[in-house]
Amino acid sequence: MPTPNEILTELKKIKYPGFTRDIVSFGMIKDIEVAHHGVKIILNPPAAKPELIVQIVDNIKQAVTAMGGVPAVEVTVEKAPPPRAAAGLQRRSIPGVKTIVAVASGKGGVGKSTVAVNLALAISSLGRRVGLMDADVYGPSVAMMLGADQEIRVTAEKRIVPLDRFGIRYVSMALFINEDTAVIWRGPMVTKLESEFLFNVEWGELDCLVLDLPPGTGDAQLTITQRAALDGGVIVTTPQELALVDVRRGMAMFSEVNVPVLGVIENMSYYECGKCGHRHDIFNHGGGAKLADELGVPFLGEIPIFRELREGGDRAAPLASTNPDHPASIRFRQIATQVLAQIEHRN
Ligand SMILES: Nc1ncnc2c1ncn2[C@@H]1O[C@H](COP(=O)(O)OP(=O)(O)OP(=O)(O)O)[C@@H](O)[C@H]1O
Ligand SMILES: [Mg+2]
Repeated sequence: MPTPNEILTELKKIKYPGFTRDIVSFGMIKDIEVAHHGVKIILNPPAAKPELIVQIVDNIKQAVTAMGGVPAVEVTVEKAPPPRAAAGLQRRSIPGVKTIVAVASGKGGVGKSTVAVNLALAISSLGRRVGLMDADVYGPSVAMMLGADQEIRVTAEKRIVPLDRFGIRYVSMALFINEDTAVIWRGPMVTKLESEFLFNVEWGELDCLVLDLPPGTGDAQLTITQRAALDGGVIVTTPQELALVDVRRGMAMFSEVNVPVLGVIENMSYYECGKCGHRHDIFNHGGGAKLADELGVPFLGEIPIFRELREGGDRAAPLASTNPDHPASIRFRQIATQVLAQIEHRN
């Protein structure tokens, strides 16, 4: 009969379905007992779809049986605690921060940071105290979009003091890491840094913290969504068909960790000509609404392509704050209202 350690080594080869991380590093194996009648494994899965758990149990049974000399394998699945109650285990809330909303996208370049920045400002314009965290080591866009009027400070306790810009507090990992060092940081190191960073910020009292997640739905994003006690996720997409496939992945990621998807935003939806007012559907817009409907999540709205939105981002003059009457700013306020309504309804 194999020893518990040998079994653990085998279990490390089993990947969590859809991810490159294994079930052991996910902290799912609570106990392994080896007795004369067989092996008993206690599984403590994160809140996940039942069919995923069934698959993991099957994989475990197969792997242990294949080791040979094991008369029987029993896998007991512990009931996953509700997300908030899991705080001590993996999820942590941030003192003083009432709600956390993550902005995700299946792939890069869809305007996630533009949405995160303007959404944060729009929530702030509705009278809430707002923080924004750029959790992407490789994409310094939030810092560029909001600008920095001073060096970032660190307290005597080595906690990071966020910058105050346009009435919100923000921190970007990019303010700490230059491009040369970022490239040598790979995989697990970046993931750990990204998921711990937000707990080391002196946020103060916030009604809402918006997280601009790194683009994609892989291990790094999953770890952050697992670590922080998120209240909801917002998914940004563009109308191209390919991006919509990515939205499904984003939804799967949030459902994996039992975080409700507050809705989908279709960005760069169409182009409205400033001269003639004609609307040009560059990428066959409307897919976001259709997809949201199919998947049963709210559609939060469309943001057309506006030159002013990009220019505001490039000049550290974010539109939602510098031009609140612009059609894009009005749309961001409508989206912010829905996001707040959903969070407040859920709480
Ligand atoms: N609705 C829009 N209208 C015009 N320009 C936009 C719009 N949304 C985003 N952009 C521009 O598209 C570019 C990419 O946007 P952004 O940096 O927000 O994307 P991202 O998804 O965060 O990208 P990354 O994957 O690099 O983090 C930026 O130049 C931004 O100003
Ligand atoms: Mg970005």
